[in-house]
Amino acid sequence: KTAVEKRDFLTLLDYSKEEILAIIEEAFKLEENPIQPVLQGKTLAMIFEKSSTRTRVSFETGMLQLGGHALFLSSQDLQLGRGEPVSDTAKVLSGYVDAIMIRTFGHDKIEELAKHASIPVINGLTDLFHPCQALADLKTIYRIKETFEGVKTAYLGDGNNVAHSLMIAAAKVGMDFSLGCPKGYEPDADIVAKAQKLAEETGATITITYDPIEAVKDADIIYTDVWASMGQESEQQERLVAFKDFQVNDQLVQHARADYHFLHCLPAHREEEVTASIIDGEHSAVFEQAENRLHVQKALLKKLLS
Ligand code: CP
Ligand code: NVA
Repeated sequence: KTAVEKRDFLTLLDYSKEEILAIIEEAFKLEENPIQPVLQGKTLAMIFEKSSTRTRVSFETGMLQLGGHALFLSSQDLQLGRGEPVSDTAKVLSGYVDAIMIRTFGHDKIEELAKHASIPVINGLTDLFHPCQALADLKTIYRIKETFEGVKTAYLGDGNNVAHSLMIAAAKVGMDFSLGCPKGYEPDADIVAKAQKLAEETGATITITYDPIEAVKDADIIYTDVWASMGQESEQQERLVAFKDFQVNDQLVQHARADYHFLHCLPAHREEEVTASIIDGEHSAVFEQAENRLHVQKALLKKLLS
């Protein structure tokens, strides 16, 4: 456990196109052959400062299927929740376990944890990024389209953590990406600039627009996420008003390709960001997408830990 060996997974910005594609490829193999005891005797600590269904269950199950063990640690139960410094938590856990997965609020907190841990730290969602989700999104899109080249993914709604990671993922693998959002809910300008620079290298296009129809025009994939993320509950009412034109519904999808697929990281709010007709309809791939969290994270754990 030396600093030289350790590799974190905080954002896809730190991973090359080749590394990302290799994780996706390995995930397809793990889907075929799920039980592989390559992490025997290894433990993953999972710290949650926010709720989770998919991230918790997929990481815990994934570690078991790879022969290892996962510990669910709610921040309410950890001394971290009573004010123990992140740096001390990082150093203590580094002495017991082989990797840490954390879901938290500020991205600076995960950076602090990674800085002081001598073991890999995996981002299970921060306010800024959700890179494990983006890996699952890429695997799902690849299974559907069998390529990223010439594929257009349109994201509708809040320029949030999921949008940031999906945009970076698209730029890395060379997939066209458009984001439609209301004024005031744009993605982080610095992240957009980074994605646009990456896209120049891979031949992808990154478009940000305030027009939902322009965003979904001829899209192969339409993606949305909740309008109020965890930690934004008090803004729920004003966001319902601000985002109303960005709902994915039967009218909006008319502008996409006839064979479009619908994705959502879940959990979803039916009749808010997406109608039931779409998410429960024949174009939806959201449950395959959710299952892919398991396969891609196992591939990631294998890469970082075995
Ligand atoms: N998509 C996702 O991360 O789901 P959970 O919040 O249930 O983990
Ligand atoms: N943007 C959402 C994603 C949940 C998986 C949130 O941060 O709450």
